[in-house]
Amino acid sequence: MSKKIVKPKLRNKSARKTERVMLQSVKGMRDILPADQPWWDWIREEVGKLADYYNFGRIDTPILEKAELFEKTVGEATDIVEKQMFFVKSAKDRLVLRPENTAAVARAYIEHGLSRLPQPARLYYIGPMFRHEQPQEGRFRQFHQVGFEMLGGEGDPVYDAQTILIFYRLLERLKITDLNIQINTIGCRTCRPIYRKRLVDYYKSKGVCRDCRRRLSINPFRLLDCKGEKCEEIKKEAPIILDNICDGCDCHFRTILEYLEQIGLPYVLNNYLARGLDYYNRTVFEIFTKESTALVGGGRYDYLVEMLGGPATPAIGGAAGLERWIAVMKSQEIKLPPAKTRPKVFLIHIGNLAKKRGLILLEELRGAGIKTDEALGRASLRAQLKQADRERAKVALIFGQKEAFEDTIIIRDMNTGSQETVPLEKMVNAVKRKLK
Ligand code: HAM
Repeated sequence: MSKKIVKPKLRNKSARKTERVMLQSVKGMRDILPADQPWWDWIREEVGKLADYYNFGRIDTPILEKAELFEKTVGEATDIVEKQMFFVKSAKDRLVLRPENTAAVARAYIEHGLSRLPQPARLYYIGPMFRHEQPQEGRFRQFHQVGFEMLGGEGDPVYDAQTILIFYRLLERLKITDLNIQINTIGCRTCRPIYRKRLVDYYKSKGVCRDCRRRLSINPFRLLDCKGEKCEEIKKEAPIILDNICDGCDCHFRTILEYLEQIGLPYVLNNYLARGLDYYNRTVFEIFTKESTALVGGGRYDYLVEMLGGPATPAIGGAAGLERWIAVMKSQEIKLPPAKTRPKVFLIHIGNLAKKRGLILLEELRGAGIKTDEALGRASLRAQLKQADRERAKVALIFGQKEAFEDTIIIRDMNTGSQETVPLEKMVNAVKRKLK
């Protein structure tokens, strides 16, 4: 009997508990709160300026794409396609949240005939990407990339150097220091298969980790990416592409290095830099901090447009993870540029009539391009004045019962405390003078 009484009570308790569970953001995805927006604004502003100086046009592609787009280009045997794509339920298509944007830009290039524009078409983007990774410091499931891509034209090494340059300049403008540019070539259709065979021959007799044993048959270049202690040791003796590339790739690579030296960009040759995506050929590069955080990654992808059914189209580009940039900016104690805040006016109302008419006055001020603030939900004069002070309003407008009847308003200078009463029809001009 007693059990019967206790049981429903327990159920109620646990039900109440469930009701109180707070919903949180999805694992690996974060809110960007107003306090952090100035970092994003700064980056967006500098990206916009550089894009303009270097003549890149902005492209926004949809966040949803067909899974096939990435399977065909990024590669079936890559982490991104094998395990990191977020699928979105759809009755007809296999859709995913885009894990990266280069393939989508190439799709758009073909779809909209961008090859008819002066070549190379220079395109840039900023936006969220999604990868189902194990979240950790600097690794999220939703993160934002800025990317610069050049498609079409001659495939000249000068564009490879320019791509690295634009990212380096962007990082410089954001005052990020201690950068390390690493560059390598991974060859082309002619020389890459020869190197691939040498790699397989070298690795097949070595005791690599289980993942690498699997990679050996599907994508042996990925063995060079393995961070396992034993595999890192084995890598030290692995054949390098530079000993195996054709004359065309050799000349292309040397010319890039010459250009980088010409512009004075410091770089390090990393013979084992392979990059995890299948669409690359020839140049690959990354920009790291001295703590080895990858801030930018990119490379040449001359076959990508073809993979998607378009004509042979040389292309080069790169992308950067902005959450990582901001974390590095904060850890390097970089100061945000002074905020460009416009002085504002705060309306203080006393009584219901003033509140109602105050709504119209605020609209009049905003219509005249004046930044306004208010606490119309509060009745107390003291509380409103305190808030005006805390919000650093330059001018407070005090509008009470008496003023509402007389069609006047009190203008208070919040710095000096001096006040004057003006007729309502002169309010906008009087406020403008005070805010100057
Ligand atoms: P990626 O190396 O996969 O290349 O990504 C580029 C950058 O995005 C990385 O260097 C890193 O800063 C950032 N990133 C990547 N994954 C995450 C993550 N889970 N959380 C936070 N940041 C991340 C690409 O995406 C290529 N589409 C780059 C490219 C453009 N190649 C040619 N053009």
